[in-house]
Amino acid sequence: MEQTFLMIKPDGVQRGLIGRIVSRLEDKGFTLVGCKFAQVTAQQAEFHYAEHVGKDFYPNLVKFITSGPVFAMVWEGDDIIALSRILIGKTNVKEAQPGTIRGDFAAHTPNNLIHGSDSMESSKREIGNFFEAQELVNYTKGLAPWI
Ligand code: RTP
Ligand code: MG
Repeated sequence: MEQTFLMIKPDGVQRGLIGRIVSRLEDKGFTLVGCKFAQVTAQQAEFHYAEHVGKDFYPNLVKFITSGPVFAMVWEGDDIIALSRILIGKTNVKEAQPGTIRGDFAAHTPNNLIHGSDSMESSKREIGNFFEAQELVNYTKGLAPWI
């Protein structure tokens, strides 16, 4: 089953949106396989955002993601990488549709509340940056056939 790394960013934590964002992921039918509330280290931030090194917004991005605690999660589901990014909404808040997390809750582009992996490769790398294999739980939900 496909897995993705989703992380409620410091703005989502500070605004008290952990529960509401997690609810949307549960409502969709995705399966939570791991989570932790943590302070991102500079080293983790640099590894996580390695693809953005050299871009003008990179220094602020690292500053932002390390500015307070995050809620890091691993979720599972068929096509979850693509489906969760639809639920999250576009990066630019001016393009984020109502009904998406960013469309409903984010008003300024860099403060867009949640990160979602953009490929299988990123997902594996990002999960490994925050979780040990034994921190992820494999189980089957009774509702699975109905989703
Ligand atoms: P994320 O990685 O956080 O899920 O967001 P994303 O895929 O939608 O966007 P990405 O291109 O990966 O950019 C990562 C984060 O960098 C900030 N950003 N700022 N032009 C800008 O000011 C700009 N572009 C990107 C956002 O916080 C974005 O989520
Ligand atoms: Mg991205």
